[in-house]
Amino acid sequence: MIWVAAIVGYFIGSIPFSYIIPRLRGIDITKVGSGNVGGTNVLRNLGTGYGALAMFLDIMKAVVAVLIFKNQGENAMVMAGAMSVFGHCYSPFVKFKGGKGVATTLGSFFAIFPQAGMFALGIWIAIVALTQYVSLASIIGLLAGTIFTLVFGKNYWIIFLALTLFSVYRHKENIKRLLEGNERKTNVVDYFLG
Ligand code: G3P
Repeated sequence: MIWVAAIVGYFIGSIPFSYIIPRLRGIDITKVGSGNVGGTNVLRNLGTGYGALAMFLDIMKAVVAVLIFKNQGENAMVMAGAMSVFGHCYSPFVKFKGGKGVATTLGSFFAIFPQAGMFALGIWIAIVALTQYVSLASIIGLLAGTIFTLVFGKNYWIIFLALTLFSVYRHKENIKRLLEGNERKTNVVDYFLG
């Protein structure tokens, strides 16, 4: 069952909502803004409605992948969530490219340990509001969710850590720009609150 969870998780995760939605509006998301196939870049280039939809669907695909296996035990759920992240980042539908795994990792947190998902999202919102650096918020938010999982003694914290470190790796260009002081700012709060 664990391998079924891996395959199903991968394919659900690989549905590239953040590519499909802009494409339907005539935009190749890989060619605009940061070029990232992710909800933040959709928000930047298509505005709040489409950005929120892309973020929501990218989170929900991980949630769905995990919940399909909710009767098969924790290992199957964690495997489905983890593989949905890889599907998102290396999608066969966009030439094995993809996003940075933030929404799918967050969705996995939500589906496996909702309190960790809430904590990660809360930190993400706080840091975006304070700094407008989505990449920084994503890295710290996922780390916070992982630490929360460790503190609450969940033995899958190590998988959450691996997913978080993978996402940190996917943010390597953002980290370079953050250190150089030229990372782009995105006022997500303004997008949502007008
Ligand atoms: O979810 C990805 C986000 O953390 C950074 O995206 O487009 O600013 O590179 P972007």
